[in-house]
Amino acid sequence: MERSLLKVAVIGGDGTGPEVAGEAAKVLNAVAGLEGIALELEDFDYGGDRYLRTGEILPPGALEKLATFDAILLGAIGHPDVPPGVLERGLLLAMRFHFDQYINLRPVKLFPGVETPLKDKGPDDVDFVVVRENTEDLYCGVGGFLKKGTPDEVAMQTAVYTRKGCERCIRWAFDYTRKRNKKKRLTLVAKTNVLTYGHDLWWRTFQDVAKEYPDVQPDYNHVDACCMWMVKNPEFYDVIVTTNMFGDIITDLAGILQGGMGVAAGGNINPEPGGVSMYEPMGGSAPKYTGTHAINPIAAISAASMLLEHSGFPQAGARVMKAIQIVTGTKMKSQAAGKMGYTTQEVGDLVVGAL
Ligand code: IPM
Ligand code: MN
Repeated sequence: MERSLLKVAVIGGDGTGPEVAGEAAKVLNAVAGLEGIALELEDFDYGGDRYLRTGEILPPGALEKLATFDAILLGAIGHPDVPPGVLERGLLLAMRFHFDQYINLRPVKLFPGVETPLKDKGPDDVDFVVVRENTEDLYCGVGGFLKKGTPDEVAMQTAVYTRKGCERCIRWAFDYTRKRNKKKRLTLVAKTNVLTYGHDLWWRTFQDVAKEYPDVQPDYNHVDACCMWMVKNPEFYDVIVTTNMFGDIITDLAGILQGGMGVAAGGNINPEPGGVSMYEPMGGSAPKYTGTHAINPIAAISAASMLLEHSGFPQAGARVMKAIQIVTGTKMKSQAAGKMGYTTQEVGDLVVGAL
């Protein structure tokens, strides 16, 4: 049998990041064996500890080295001794921007056996995907201070939107909605009634691109209304496409609907040929749980499933996704840290066993 090669860089990161990334790597190795994928994993120790030791977040040559991999699996970043923002900007956002990972893909799927805070809603009701633009908006770091530290201080933070940036994201979302082939509805979430320049560009671009996809129903929600509908009628949504900042906010809301941070995963995708994409569990580094074997690896394993799906191994990705649902549906007591009925490593073993 011809074996196709998949090279994955694993950045465990901080706190419980390495533990959950380790379980995801375990599952990747197992499914690669079953599916005949020649998998190469390499660990990188980037994160808070290394930064405190060396003063560097990404050492010289790191990005060039990472560029030689097909994909990156990230555990978590966030260190109690490093001020907030330093690692986020220096590692996570740095990679999103450097590798032009312009799609932030967040599947919002309630797995069997997983509790949702929504009354009377089940796996059939909570099953949609958020496509978040991942390189523009308020995340560009464009802004400045005037008269800093004085009573007359001015702070400006500029949202940047480009035609190219929103068009490539919107087009990818239409394609994805078509391929997903469920409700065939793409909802643009924005705030056109207030952001009359930036979101007017998004709105016009959405209308233009929609013409190329007559089989997909174009739909629109203001972001505030979307938050209400997502809680009241999550079953309405199929695919949502939205701007970077709004996408950040609504995917945390969506994450809790699907059972919380132990379950939610995301992909930072550069869909161009040769693009390097990065997959991550949405939960943080949860420092207080470090080494307790209590943290839930399902989100990280789910990120590994996405990695396979979007790196040319959809069958292997689907196999992992199915195994996850067997484990949440028939084994785990809860998705909350320390309440799973199993340790982190045991949950990883259960998923391997269900492959
Ligand atoms: C996310 C996170 C990041 C973001 C932070 C850690 C910079 O919240 O991936 O949603 O805001 O994008
Ligand atoms: Mn976020």
